[in-house]
Amino acid sequence: MDRFAIHGGHRLEGSIEVSGAKNAALPILAACLLSADKFELSNVPQLQDIRTMQRLLAGMGVKLVRDGHQMQVQADAVSSVEAPYELVKTMRASILVLGPLLARFGEAKVSLPGGCAIGQRPVDQHVKGLQAMGAEIRIEHGYLNARAKRLHGARIVTDMVTVTGTENLMMAAVLAKGTTLIENAAREPEVVDLAQMLVQMGAKIEGIGTDRLGIEGVEELKGARYKVMPDRIEAGTFLCALAACGGRIRLESAHPASMDASLEKLRDAGARIRCGEDWIEMEMASRPRPINLRTAPYPGFATDMQAQFMALNALADGTSVIHETIFENRFMHVQELNRLGADIQIEGHTAIVKGVAALSAANVMATDLRASAGLVIAALVARGTTTIERIYHLDRGYEAMERKLQNLGAQVERLK
Ligand code: UD1
Repeated sequence: MDRFAIHGGHRLEGSIEVSGAKNAALPILAACLLSADKFELSNVPQLQDIRTMQRLLAGMGVKLVRDGHQMQVQADAVSSVEAPYELVKTMRASILVLGPLLARFGEAKVSLPGGCAIGQRPVDQHVKGLQAMGAEIRIEHGYLNARAKRLHGARIVTDMVTVTGTENLMMAAVLAKGTTLIENAAREPEVVDLAQMLVQMGAKIEGIGTDRLGIEGVEELKGARYKVMPDRIEAGTFLCALAACGGRIRLESAHPASMDASLEKLRDAGARIRCGEDWIEMEMASRPRPINLRTAPYPGFATDMQAQFMALNALADGTSVIHETIFENRFMHVQELNRLGADIQIEGHTAIVKGVAALSAANVMATDLRASAGLVIAALVARGTTTIERIYHLDRGYEAMERKLQNLGAQVERLK
């Protein structure tokens, strides 16, 4: 298993390209199941999770040709409608094939994801919504077995804001008979990106970007050419690293308009930020100020940025409070940050972070994707050489992270 060895204490300086968004590319790839036509996707990030989705689709008979960040996809000879446990257990987002399979083929067999490191993460809202659209869904031998002659429109109010739930229901509704209304829909930019691709395919969707989506089903969808949006979480992670290390960087191919909550918090922490339509420049010249935050659905502060900001707060000049409201078990990085010398206490869903003047290197273990990103940030500032084990978590969602950090002057090495 690969490890990172990070020698901390270097300022970051330079410029890097932001990759395509993992959480937009995954539903967009699943959406290719909705048509027999050809898709040409660009800006698809090179990540483990994308390779898992490729394997999942290839197992169904979908043709995929990858050339760097371009991908051609065609689902004109689908021979299986099954998402097997072996793949779903490594990537929960595999559930995203459920809606498209059911809508186009009238059946789907998708393994239940089961628990994961950051909490229970049930899929009851996906199931409830599809049932409202006429699907028969039974749980047998750990699988969701779903059937429907043709889905029909329905009014669906989800119990909570769910990102992949909204995406699954939207992908089911675009081919259903009649009109579907999804209330309490997720407004994440990645949901918008998927909706825009569906519209290019001929879908009729109103209210894109709001919490109320009106979808009029069509008989058939066509292929599309689509460029995946930039990854706001990757971009935010590099900015947090800069805020912790000090220095000045420029991010190219970014999408600052989707990053308001993070950019505002970074400004509160003391960063100077300038943005254009697709670039961000940030400078950090002082020790970070502590910032309180509460995770929330978009446009609130993203739970996927919580660990990175906690690493930043660990070094801040004062005490901060972080509330995690989305996932019940998303503080696993705390123990590891404390091993690096941070002073963080957890009380229920709240972390109290007392900033320390310096962190010191140690051996730490990555536990999930964004937790690992928090550890990388802490290691970049810690005195000495930190090793981070199990970085396969990082490889799921960060493209060439060590190379990008090296470009900024950080001392990061991948040990095989
Ligand atoms: C997506 C993102 C993930 C991000 C999360 C929250 C992808 C591939 N992943 O995950 O990176 O951290 O949004 O922004 O886009 N819930 C239920 N029942 C359901 C569905 C969700 O109880 O049927 C709960 C979850 O347990 C969680 C909350 O709703 O507490 C939000 O989860 P959700 O938005 O669905 O997260 P994901 O879509 O899995």
